[in-house]
Amino acid sequence: MRDGEQSPGAAMSREDKLRIARALERLKVDVIEAGFPASSPGDFASVKAVAEIVKDSRVCALARTGDADIDRAAEAIKPAVAPRIHTFIATSPLHMEKKLRMTPDQVVEAAVRAVKRARQYTDDVEFSAEDAGRSEMEFLCRIFEAVIDAGATTINVPDTVGYNLPQQFGEKFRYLIENIPNSDKAIFSAHCHNDLGLAVANSLAAVMAGARQVECAVNGLGERAGNAALEEVVMAVRTRQDLFPCDVGVDTRHLLACSKLVAAITGFHVQPNKAIVGLNAFAHESGIHQDGVLKSRETYEIMRAQDVGWQDNRLTLGKLSGRNAFKQRMSSLGFEFASQEEMAEAFRRFKELADKKREIFDEDLMALVTDMDLSQ
Ligand code: KIV
Ligand code: ZN
Repeated sequence: MRDGEQSPGAAMSREDKLRIARALERLKVDVIEAGFPASSPGDFASVKAVAEIVKDSRVCALARTGDADIDRAAEAIKPAVAPRIHTFIATSPLHMEKKLRMTPDQVVEAAVRAVKRARQYTDDVEFSAEDAGRSEMEFLCRIFEAVIDAGATTINVPDTVGYNLPQQFGEKFRYLIENIPNSDKAIFSAHCHNDLGLAVANSLAAVMAGARQVECAVNGLGERAGNAALEEVVMAVRTRQDLFPCDVGVDTRHLLACSKLVAAITGFHVQPNKAIVGLNAFAHESGIHQDGVLKSRETYEIMRAQDVGWQDNRLTLGKLSGRNAFKQRMSSLGFEFASQEEMAEAFRRFKELADKKREIFDEDLMALVTDMDLSQ
C-alpha cells in the first residue's frame, strides 16, 4: 500500500486505505506496509487507523533513519497486533554521494542507529538498502551484517530503479546470503521496480535464490512503472510449485476482488491482457483454442479462473471463433439446431456479422436467429 500509493496520481484517503487494508487482510497477506507516517499528518492518521483494525496481518510503517521518522512510525503502528518498523537509507555510490552527501561510514552508522532505535519499539524491524540494485556487493554485505547485529530481522534488497536482470538479481541474493556471516538471523526480502518490465521475474529469481519475502503491490502499482504485481508473483509461485522451495499463504480466490477494489479506488484500471486479473486473462478467442478448451480446459489454461476469483473462463465470440464454441453458446441461450443445415446457416450468419463487429454478444446471437425456425 505504501509504494503502491507512490504511483503518481494514486494518493489515497484514510477511508480508501482502510478498505484496501481489509481486502489485503482477507487475502491473507503476511505484511501490509500501510504508509510513511512522517510524510504527512494524513498518512500518519491512515497508518494508525490501519494498525487499529487489522488483526491477522502484520502492519508496517516506513521511516527514514532519522529519530523523528522512527518515533513517528512507532507511534502510528502502536495499536497493531503485530507491528513492524521498516527503515531505509540509500547505499549506492550515486545516491550516497549525490543525494545524501554522506560517506559510506556515515551511512552505516545512520542505519545501525535507526535499527537500534526502532528495536526499542518493536522486535520486528526491517532494513532496506535503497538502490541496492546498483550498490556495491561488498558494501551491502558490510551494512547488512551491521544492521542484523543491531537487531534487524528482515533485510530488504530493493532494485529501486528496476535496473537488474533476473539471473543477475538472483545471483546477488545468493551472494549476500552466502557471504554475510549472520545472514541466518534475518529473512531476506526482494523489492523490485518495473522500469524494464522485469519486476515479477526479478522477484521470482530472488525467491529461487533464498529470498523469503517479496514486496509487491496489487495490480503492480508503484513509483514510475510500478512494483512487482502481487497477483502475478503469487500465482507464479502457486502454479509452479514444482520449481519453488516455498509456497505463499495467500487466499488466491480474493485476488480479482482485490484488484478491482484497488482499480476503483485509484482510478488505475488494468489493461485487458493483464495476467491473472485482466478481462481477457481467461478468455479464449480463436476457434482452435476454444475447441481445445471445450474438450479439455488444460489445453490452453495453466490456472483455473475460479482459483483467482473469476466465475469461469470465457469463450468470446468473434470472427476467429469456431463452430463448437458457437454451438455451445447458442445452446446455453436455449437454441438447439435440428439439423446440420440449420446449424450451418446460423454459423454463416454469425461469421458474416463477426466480420463487421469486433465482439458478438448474446443479444446479437439472439437477433441473428430470430427469423430462423429453431427449437427453444
Ligand atoms: O524502492 C525502494 O527502494 C523503496 C524503499 C523505500 C524500500 O521503496
Ligand atoms: Zn520501492
